[in-house]
Amino acid sequence: MEINKVGVVGCGLMGSGIVETCARAGYDVVVQEVSQELLDRGLGRVQASMQKAVSRNKIEQGQAEEALARITGTLTLNDFSGCDLVVEAAVENMAVKKEIFGQLDQILPAHAILASNTSSLCITEMASVTGRGDKVLGIHFFNPVPVMPLIEFVRTILTSDETMEAAHQFGASLGKTMVTAKDTPGFIVNRLLIPYILDAVRVYENGLASREDIDTAIKLGLNHPMGPLTLLDFVGLDTCLFIADAMYQEYKDERYAAPPLLRRMVLAGHLGRKSGKGFYDYR
Ligand code: 3HC
Repeated sequence: MEINKVGVVGCGLMGSGIVETCARAGYDVVVQEVSQELLDRGLGRVQASMQKAVSRNKIEQGQAEEALARITGTLTLNDFSGCDLVVEAAVENMAVKKEIFGQLDQILPAHAILASNTSSLCITEMASVTGRGDKVLGIHFFNPVPVMPLIEFVRTILTSDETMEAAHQFGASLGKTMVTAKDTPGFIVNRLLIPYILDAVRVYENGLASREDIDTAIKLGLNHPMGPLTLLDFVGLDTCLFIADAMYQEYKDERYAAPPLLRRMVLAGHLGRKSGKGFYDYR
């Protein structure tokens, strides 16, 4: 199956990165948002990131312009009718995702593949509202999408070999390395990342060390690009809490139980970089 046109639902942090990556790989991309303001903000992010790629000599100015010209923004899913593949990167809310999957199942051509970029929600549940469970899978990208080399595929018990083969061809065309996991919360990366991040919060909460020393220890002692608290601010405290809660709900294992401090910081609006304040101050 040939993929020419890609649809992306949502132009937030992940959606805009997926749009940019697909357009740079030569795909025509249509991206949907729920308001003009969010669409403009998301497309602005794509433009700024492409300029950064030009300034770092990753792509030529002409390539960036060509890629931007391949992107169309819309406020309606009806404009996805010519898509061969849609990646949903909307809010992490199952009811919203099921609504989107149900609508897209009606709008998309019969051959089209429907994917979710969810980091923790059940792909099989999304597939259940469509008449094409064999063409549904998870395609989980990592932030920042144009830079991070990995894609995690999530295969449900319904996903067909043909769909996995087409997804692999798509991932390879984006220049990504691919791994495959079963449809269980956290897949591979978050299954291992979330307990580590939660432990870092516990260590800080218990007063073992300062946040700077926790981050420096991991950055220089393990050669990670970011310490765990900096990474938490980068991913978003609300996002990590959401994933942890989803994993705890499924596994009932205390490794995934969010420490009180994390929940309180989210309640206080300290979400990390996106809100200007998390474990560190970005204002
Ligand atoms: N397009 C293309 N290349 C870009 C780019 C863009 N828009 N922006 C940056 N780059 C390139 C730079 O040119 C540079 O490449 P080089 O090493 O060849 O020179 C490289 O990316 C690094 O960029 P910077 O120098 O600007 O930034 P840093 O060196 O500070 O690295 C970082 C930034 C890549 C974010 C690094 O700190 C990092 O890898 N952090 C960890 C990120 C991570 O773990 N992400 C996963 C989070 S978990 C997740 O997403 C899953 C979810 O479900 C929770």
